[in-house]
Formats: sequence, structure tokens, C-alpha cells
Amino acid sequence: MPEFPDIPRHIAVIMDGNGRWAKERGLPRREGHRAGAESVREVTDACIEIGVQYLTVYAFSSENWNRPQAEVTALMGLLDRFLSDKAKDLKKQNIRLLAIGQLDRLPAKTRGLLEKIMEQTADHSAMTLVLALSYGGREEIVSAARSLATDAAAGKIQPAQIDGTLFASRLQTAGIPDPDLLIRTSGEMRVSNFLLWQISYAEIVIVKKFWPDFRRNDLIEAVREYQRRHRRFGAL
Ligand code: FPP
Repeated sequence: MPEFPDIPRHIAVIMDGNGRWAKERGLPRREGHRAGAESVREVTDACIEIGVQYLTVYAFSSENWNRPQAEVTALMGLLDRFLSDKAKDLKKQNIRLLAIGQLDRLPAKTRGLLEKIMEQTADHSAMTLVLALSYGGREEIVSAARSLATDAAAGKIQPAQIDGTLFASRLQTAGIPDPDLLIRTSGEMRVSNFLLWQISYAEIVIVKKFWPDFRRNDLIEAVREYQRRHRRFGAL
């Protein structure tokens, strides 16, 4: 697309502000999450439209388990509905679905749906949609460190062999390029335990809107902002 010469290969999104969006309208929080799921659909379509190859959305953090049970249940229900409804589109749109996070903590139904769709879309090539579910960046790093330490203790690798590449290969995002652009909605300036290793060189775009109001044109505006920045990876 000539209008977009420098498309980020991977966009990661911290979808913040569903609760505040609902509160502003006098609605229950779950309505904010429901509207937020619509934004996920629209942003996924927009990414396909402009040629983004990977989109990772922070749908449920490891800390989100501490929310009231009713909200956790509502979020899992929304996720189930999203997965059931979206399965057909993922096939039509040739999108591969992946999930990162402590998936064994998810309800069996949600995990079953995820596994089925991941298997069905494994060879899709238009775009990869990564759902971060029960995900925490520190937990992911600890788990990679533990896996390397286990191999070192067993004599399978030497500690001196451990470098950035080997370390990254033990993260759940192994094989996925690092995000070029990290978007966070609702104006908060925090990383919130999201992709801590992977966002080292990402451009960060903070958008004031709440996530349910973030739609196609906002995604395109964030990409334009990314394109205006000069990325140097620490060099001059
Ligand atoms: C943050 O808003 C958002 C979440 C904790 C969950 C994000 C989930 C969705 C967008 C819907 C389900 C996802 C998919 C993939 C279908 P918040 O509740 O922290 O908002 P607040 O900061 O205003 O309270």
C-alpha cells in the first residue's frame, strides 16, 4: 500500500480503559469489555488491511485473576464468544491464531476452544493474531530462565552459551519478531508487565481514548505516528 511505506511488522496493544468507558456511560464494566472486544475485531481487520504481520493484544494479565470473580467470568465468557464467532473469519481472512501466557490457568472450555482454533489456523499466513492470556512478562522471563537453568544443570548447555538469542528462544514468543510498535490506550504511561523482554526497541504510542473507542482510524493514526519517528536502535 503506497500510502504506508513503513508498516510495523508487529504491533502490540495494551487495551486499557474498558472499565472507565463503561463507567462514563453508567454501564456495568462487562459492557466496556464487550465493546472492547468489538475494537479487537476492528483493529484486527485494520491490521490485515494495511499489511501488519503480527498483532498481539493484552486480553488478560496474570494480575487480572485478582479482579472480582464476576468480572473474570464475564471476561472469559467474552473470550469464548470471540473465539467461537471469530473462528470462521480467521479461516476466511487466513489469520493464524496464537496464544501466550499461563494457558493452563484458563477454564477448560476456553483452553479447548483456543487449542482447536490454533490447530485449525496453524498454516494461515496473512497475519498472526497473538492473544496474551493470563500473561505476565516477568513470569515469562522467569520461566525461560528456569528452562535454561534446568538444561545447564543437566549438562545439556554450558552457561557461557546463554546469549540473547538462546534466551529469546525459550520465551513463549519464540519465532515471533519483537514488536515495532506498542500502543496503550486510555493515556496511562505504564508497561504493566507486558512483553518486557520483547519491547526493548519498540516505539511507544500512548493514545488518550479508552480502548472501546479505539477503532480503525485510530490504529492508522498510531501507525502514522510510528512512521514519523526515526528509529535508531541506540545508534546515531
Ligand atoms: C483493560 O480495561 C482491559 C482488560 C483488563 C481486558 C481486555 C479485554 C477485552 C478488550 C475484551 C476481551 C478480549 C478479547 C480478545 C475478545 P480495564 O478493565 O482495566 O479498564 P479500566 O482501567 O478503565 O478499569
